[in-house]
Parts: sequence; C-alpha cells; structure tokens
Amino acid sequence: MAAASLTDLFAADASRAGRFSIEAGELILDYSKHRVDAETMRLLAALAVQEQLPRWIARMFSGDPINSTEARAVLHVALRSGDASFPEGRDVMPAVRGARERMRRFVDEVQRGDLKGADGRAITDIVNIGIGGSDLGPRMLVRAMRKLRKPGPRLHFVSNIDPADLEAALAGLTPGTTFFIVASKTFTTAETLANAARARAWLASALGTGLSRHFAALTANTAGAEALGVPPERVFPMWDWVGGRYSVWSAVGLPVALAAGMDAFEELLQGARAMDAHFRNEPLERNMPTVLALLEIWYVNFFGAQTRAVIPYSEDLRDLPAYLQQLEMESNGKRVDRDGNEVDYATAPVVWGAPGTPSQHSFHQLLHQGTHFIPVDFIVIRRNGESSTEQAALAANALAQGAALAFGNPASERHKALPGNRPSSTLLLDRLTPRALGALIALFEHKVFVEGVIWNVNSFDQWGVEHGKNLARTLLPRLLDGGETGGLDASTRGLLARLRKPD
Ligand code: F6P
Repeated sequence: MAAASLTDLFAADASRAGRFSIEAGELILDYSKHRVDAETMRLLAALAVQEQLPRWIARMFSGDPINSTEARAVLHVALRSGDASFPEGRDVMPAVRGARERMRRFVDEVQRGDLKGADGRAITDIVNIGIGGSDLGPRMLVRAMRKLRKPGPRLHFVSNIDPADLEAALAGLTPGTTFFIVASKTFTTAETLANAARARAWLASALGTGLSRHFAALTANTAGAEALGVPPERVFPMWDWVGGRYSVWSAVGLPVALAAGMDAFEELLQGARAMDAHFRNEPLERNMPTVLALLEIWYVNFFGAQTRAVIPYSEDLRDLPAYLQQLEMESNGKRVDRDGNEVDYATAPVVWGAPGTPSQHSFHQLLHQGTHFIPVDFIVIRRNGESSTEQAALAANALAQGAALAFGNPASERHKALPGNRPSSTLLLDRLTPRALGALIALFEHKVFVEGVIWNVNSFDQWGVEHGKNLARTLLPRLLDGGETGGLDASTRGLLARLRKPD
C-alpha cells in the first residue's frame, strides 16, 4: 500500500467513498481519502484485537485502575453516564449527580443575577483561572458554543503565569463586580495559585474585606481550596479518577454552563454519552474512534508520519487544535510502555493546527508541496446558523483542500505541480450543537485511548511534566534573590546571570 495511489484506489472502486465512511450520531467521518483498502483496515482491526482492545475498553468502563502508575481508575465516562449507578461495584453516580446539581443551582443563581460581590453589586465578569485541562476545554467550548450565549456575566480565561495574562483579562474590570473561578484538580499548580493570589490582592486593594464572596473553586483538593479562603459551598468537586485533560465534563465545565446554560451543558454530556455507546458497541471496523486511531497508527508506525494537522473549518472551533494537543500529546507522548520498557516504535505524533480558511494562507503551501508526510483532519460544519454564500464557501474550501491533497494537480511547470496522494479525514458535523461537540470531543478521547492500548502506553499519567516544574521551583529563588548558582549547567547559569543583571 506504500506505493498505492488514491487516484487509483478511487478509480478501482466506485463505491469507495461510501464504504470508507462511518456515521455516529451527529458526526460523519469520511476516511476514503486515506491510503488504505479493505485489507488494510482488516489487518489494522486485527492488530487492535491482538492488543486486546475490547478487553481494555471493558476495563475502563468497569472502573479498573488502568492508570497503573497512579493506581487510579479512568472514569471520565461516568461524568456523562446516564446510568442510575455506574460502574458496577463502585458507584460514583451519586457524587457525580450531586456535583452537577450544585453546578445547576449556582448557574441558576448567576443567571438570576443573584451572584453579588462584597459590596452587594451584581457580578458582571467571571474570570476562570486554570491551566491545561482546567483551561483548554472550557475555553474551547465557551467559544464553540458562542451562539448559545446566555445573558449574564462576561467570561474570561487566564492561564499563564505571565502577569500579562491576568492584567489583560482584568483591564477594564471592576473588583466589586468581578468573580473568580479557580480551577485546579490538584490545587497545587504554581501558575493557578499565583494568579489566584494576584486576583485576591487586586480585590483586596479595592474591597478590603468580603473577598471570599468573589471566589469559587473547581478541584479534587477541597482542603486546598478552603485554605485559599474559598467558602466550602463554592467548592465544586472533581475526583482523582478524572484526568485533567478529560475533565471538561466535570465541574471544570462550569464556565461552559455559565456561558450557554446548564441545559446546553447537559446536551454536551448527552452527545458524549452517545459516542461512548458507539465506542462500546460498534464492531471495530465501523467504530469511529477506533478507525481514526488505526489510521493514525498506520501513518505513524508504517509511513513514519511525525505530525498530524487538525484544521477545523470553523472560527468557533478555533481553540480545538490547542485542546487536542494536550489531550493527545500529554496522553500518548510516551516512550516507556506499561511494563516500564523503552518502546522501539513511534508513539503519539505532534498534533498541530489552526482554523481554515486562514490556514490556507499560512501553512497549506507546505501541506501541498512540502516534503513532509502530514495526515490531516478537516472538520466541517454543514450548517452553522445562517446558510450563506460565505458558509458554503467555507465548506467548499475544506472539500477542495482535501481533494487537492489527495489527487494533486499535474503541471508542466514543476514548481506548480501538486504531487497529491496526501491523506486526510473529513469529519462532518451537521450543526455545531452541544450534542455534536460532546460527541466530537469524546471521539478524540476514545481515539487516544485506542492508540494508547495499541502502543501499550499508559495514556492517563503525565510524569514527564514534573521535572521541569521542579527545576523552575529551584531556579525562581535564585532569580529573585540572587544566591549561588553552583550545580547549574553553564547555559542556565549564563542565562540566569543575564536575567539578574540590574536594569
Ligand atoms: O502539568 C500538567 C498538568 O498536570 C495537566 O495534566 C493538567 O491538566 C494541568 O497540569 C493543570 O493541573 P491542575 O488542574 O491540577 O491545576
């Protein structure tokens, strides 16, 4: 298949487009423009069976501690489960429903205009302070559900320890009418705690007292939140069996419910729940997350692809590539397998992307005529509100890019020729509804799960991020208060000296 051409594959099979597409609820996946045939998909599915994918799926949905290095279950699916009790033998649903009920009460209070600051004025602005999984998901969804915006406080997102981030968010805001959500599963993350402290100082300088009325927390560490002075009734729980990058379905999604309403948030959960059912029940060859995962493994482990581009043809999905970067790269960016052995094969590719059509005027030149092998995911929405020529043009461009990558364009002048035979998936959403968004995110979550099983890595820990944080913790006092730099490498020592140079 390495030499197979998409032009020939289509010429040889008039029904190819139909045969290589899958429908699951709100989503349609067209994967016919991939360098595969039925035999390829059969062999890839056999690989998944060989790696016991069905058993791993069952283990996740039964709450087994498959996050082995942290001895934790992986139960983000429970956050959107409709079962009265789930999973068997370890029912977490009472806690999940309890937390959601509290979210709903808080959202109702805010939407009634009853959320008041220390001086009794109604809150007009809510700032979510969080990073990684406590930021990327809600930020992406608040934007994606823009059209469902409910009247109520404006929402802002702050994640970076760079003071410019909080400064820019607070510009023009009034302390008395500003409320902060501190989102952190661990409540130990330096950036989030630093921004929360700065927010508190900003409030204190204007209000003096009653600051706790301006805070809520979303966390699995309620003691940490209360230590920051967040009143217990404003601490919304999450649990260690929810990974940060899988947590938008939990209280971490509170900004989404505040923006689009609790009903829309529930629809998001329903969309994900439908994808969970599809993932659990559909045979592997017709299983959308599994097929996407197998295509990625085909290119990464057989074609040597090192990256995949995600190009949503939707401004409202502008933040999706960044969200998927954490989901996919923090999950499967691993070099040691579940048995602790170094792997001798490639694992997660670099995921990158930006929205179409601006991407066409940026990096598509390389996609069409560059020397790298880069599979692409196009995400297209059939109807996004008004049906306009522009909306149609957006979709036309997405389809055109997929066709140009696949079939190329011969030209007598070589610098104009497009070689083609470059694979892409097209994910078609009927509308950008909360249900479709829920299904879309759950699709990628399960794709990542399948890849982790076949690459035999633990997709649910992220030990690789700790050392850099620890190093930063040791460098900070040296930067602030001078102090010895012995033991540091020459480059860090030199840069430190430059940074410490007085103005
Ligand atoms: O450093 C990585 C990470 O732990 C992510 O996995 C997580 O989403 C993010 O930091 C934020 O963590 P927390 O929600 O605990 O503040």
